[in-house]
Amino acid sequence: MSAPKKLFIKTYGCQMNVYDSERMAEALGGEGYVETKSADDADMILLNTCHIREKAAEKVYSELGRFKGLKAEKPDLKIGVAGCVAQAEGEEIMRRQPLVDLVVGPQSYHRLPEMEAKARQGEKVMDTDFPEEDKFEKLKNRPKAKRGPAAFLTVQEGCDKFCAFCVVPYTRGAEVSRPADRILREAQDLVERGVREITLLGQNVNAYHGAGPNGDLTLAQLIWELDKIDGLERIRFTTSHPNDMQDDLIEAHGTCAKLMPYLHLPVQAGSDKILKRMNRSHTAESYIRLIERIRAARPDILISGDFIVGFPEETEEDFQATMDLVEEVKYGTAYSFKYSTRPGTPAAERPQVDPAAADDRLQRLQALLTKQQREVQDSMVGREVGVLFEKAGRLPGQMVGKSDYLHAVHVADCTREVGDLARVRIVSSGANSLAGELIG
Ligand code: SAH
Ligand code: SF4
Ligand code: F3S
Repeated sequence: MSAPKKLFIKTYGCQMNVYDSERMAEALGGEGYVETKSADDADMILLNTCHIREKAAEKVYSELGRFKGLKAEKPDLKIGVAGCVAQAEGEEIMRRQPLVDLVVGPQSYHRLPEMEAKARQGEKVMDTDFPEEDKFEKLKNRPKAKRGPAAFLTVQEGCDKFCAFCVVPYTRGAEVSRPADRILREAQDLVERGVREITLLGQNVNAYHGAGPNGDLTLAQLIWELDKIDGLERIRFTTSHPNDMQDDLIEAHGTCAKLMPYLHLPVQAGSDKILKRMNRSHTAESYIRLIERIRAARPDILISGDFIVGFPEETEEDFQATMDLVEEVKYGTAYSFKYSTRPGTPAAERPQVDPAAADDRLQRLQALLTKQQREVQDSMVGREVGVLFEKAGRLPGQMVGKSDYLHAVHVADCTREVGDLARVRIVSSGANSLAGELIG
């Protein structure tokens, strides 16, 4: 038998790319590839890329440049670009970077095995179609290898919302939901391989409307089906859009014990003028009312958000409205970004904010969000939480896991193993994690 070929995948961007990278590794596993952690000994390098901000996209070209020497040493090395930059700029990549053998968009990677074979023959191959067939079904033969206790599972892809700043509707295409039976089969399979926590993924995961036996299922109905799987202990989902937060999903946060008290619900801005120009179709007020309803169903839920500062025509007053909204909501965690102009999106054509003003706003917003994050983390001290252990810690006898609220928790002298779900009392709050002790 010939030695296995080695595959090095580097993943950028969101969790959906993390999931896609796993699936691509599996697809190429069928062609005799095993994964390696170093580009140096790879026979094939795949960059799974993100196009969301300019910096993310530019990284791809600088990363590719670094493989020049490697390719000179090893002419058989194949280099591929996958993901959202591949989708958006496939032709340009091929033109700008002759090192690249293969370009594959996020909806076509089930065709990787054929593409790899062609690339091996010396062809340059590119596929950025939005094909009719279901890539997930084509890739259903996940190997039965054991895996870590927490896994991602993509249930919905694409976006029809067209926020004025965002490339996702162009790179990932229209919204599509996977049929429920396939998701349930995949979840069952993951549980048989040691998974105890599943995070359901989608660009707009709460817009899920996948086919079920008696018509389409909502995300909440899908969660209740997953709830029946023995051995699956925790369910999460991300990312949600405020406009798709249906009543049954809010209710499930109060009634489904496996559904974790954590919700990532991006608002982007607090000024109604800016929200309108962003094409968000919700107001600051409607978002705050929504959070109130969610907290009424699950008072201890940890709310997470995304923010953009310096969106075209944002004034200091508009920015202040974002700060006011943050003060009112009190986020447990959040991601904030300076607006990045993306070619082809409506906002790219509008009057841009002075970059220095945008930097200054980003700093002020991040200071406030960090303070809130810290307060919420500190408020966990003295409480009992569930912790799913994911790995050994750096100190002997120490284990690290995630709490129900997604905080990292360290437990010293821990008698539990990876994959165990335990009750833990939080005893202190550190820079980026909590420390706790086992109860009982
Ligand atoms: N589908 C999700 C997330 C999309 S991308 C949602 O609707 O919330 C993740 C985050 O990147 C967004 O929430 C937004 O805050 C940020 N983002 C998207 N486009 C951006 C741009 N052009 N500049 C800066 N940040 C951007
Ligand atoms: Fe982008 Fe808006 Fe769609 Fe989220 S909802 S992916 S921010 S267009
Ligand atoms: Fe980036 Fe594409 Fe995800 S642009 S954030 S990798 S959907």
